[in-house]
Amino acid sequence: MKNKFVGIMYSATLLIVACASSRNAMAQKAVSLKDVFKNDFVIGTALNATQIEEKDPKAALLVPQQFNTATPENIMKAEVIHPQWGTYQFDLADKLIAYGKKNNIKINAHTLIWHSQLPQFVRNIQSVDSFKTFFKNHITTVAGRYSGKVFSWDVVNEALNEDGTMRQSIFLDKLGDNYVTEAFRLAQAASPNTELYYNDYNNEQPAKRAGCIALIKKIKQAGVRIDGVGIQGHWHAGKIPLKEIEESIIQYTALGIKVMITELDIEVLPRNVEGADVSQRMKEDPSMNPYKNGLPDSVQQQLASDYEALFKLFLKYPGKVTRVTFWGVDDGQSWLNNWPVKGRVNYPLLFNREFKPKPAFYKVIALKKIEQE
Ligand code: G3I
Repeated sequence: MKNKFVGIMYSATLLIVACASSRNAMAQKAVSLKDVFKNDFVIGTALNATQIEEKDPKAALLVPQQFNTATPENIMKAEVIHPQWGTYQFDLADKLIAYGKKNNIKINAHTLIWHSQLPQFVRNIQSVDSFKTFFKNHITTVAGRYSGKVFSWDVVNEALNEDGTMRQSIFLDKLGDNYVTEAFRLAQAASPNTELYYNDYNNEQPAKRAGCIALIKKIKQAGVRIDGVGIQGHWHAGKIPLKEIEESIIQYTALGIKVMITELDIEVLPRNVEGADVSQRMKEDPSMNPYKNGLPDSVQQQLASDYEALFKLFLKYPGKVTRVTFWGVDDGQSWLNNWPVKGRVNYPLLFNREFKPKPAFYKVIALKKIEQE
């Protein structure tokens, strides 16, 4: 009798546990960004080496649950993948491809041509001919290796100044202002079925946007393929340029290309540096790190309403904004903890340092629920 009672109790407990865990599973499914926005745009994150190698168990769980596309934060940049003339290090990038395959996550490769994070040997190249050889070899080898394995490439990153003119870089200096078109031409030849994008920050602002449009038109007029433009989206809490973002979505898509938000994060700390130029830095000072013991509720709410307004805008343009990628998985990973001031405690993303969703996450999700009701 006693055994029968224990048996019944055990089965009942199992049933409760089963119901609870299926409820949990459903609840988890219901709060997945990639599922909620599956008919609108893909949702991405930037991954660092630790996450690609699944050395952080919390990130290893959260990333495949929330995101269906990913961008390598650093490991496909020239400095890492092509450290010496003729020497390539593909280990981490190969691991990223395997990670994407295993978790059904598409890879947006980043980036072939960027003036920053270049290996020293490139800066030491003197002759134009040698520089041309490096340029061609780099694009052909790297894009060629991942042809058919990555969904897209940020072919050229940050080639423009704020006023829309071409940035003074080693590429402009050695190759002249056709280098952007040439980069796309080489990428297309090396990786014919991969989508090819131009990526920049502040290119939602009128002057830079005009320069960006001129650049895109120039590529197209040369008969070279460009599939989309990335607006990085490193914005500030309480100061999201919604009007300019909307105007940019309209103007860029009028060129017949896709628009993506490729590096989304929202700064909540004080700074007097705009955009994302990594060469600009500010001095360390305690007043510049005001929330090291936690984010005040008022700022948390501001962040949430900024994210809500942004996603509301993206949802107005179905089929035009095709991807929204966050620049990091959780607040602890964000580059904004170290730029433009080193060692700060920042809060720019949807998941906190414990990988738990923040109020901003729920605001963004709720937009879609309201729409469905
Ligand atoms: O790899 C070294 C490591 O060996 C060393 O011990 C450590 C000491 O500081 O530095 C490590 O390199 C750092 C690297 O990130 C990897 O963590 C660099 O110092 C640091 O400057 C670098 O920052 C990256 C930055 O690009 C560099 O340009 C950020 O993580 C990355 O988020 C950021 O990403 C860029 C996009 O590619 C383009 N758009 C702007 C965006 C933000 O700056």
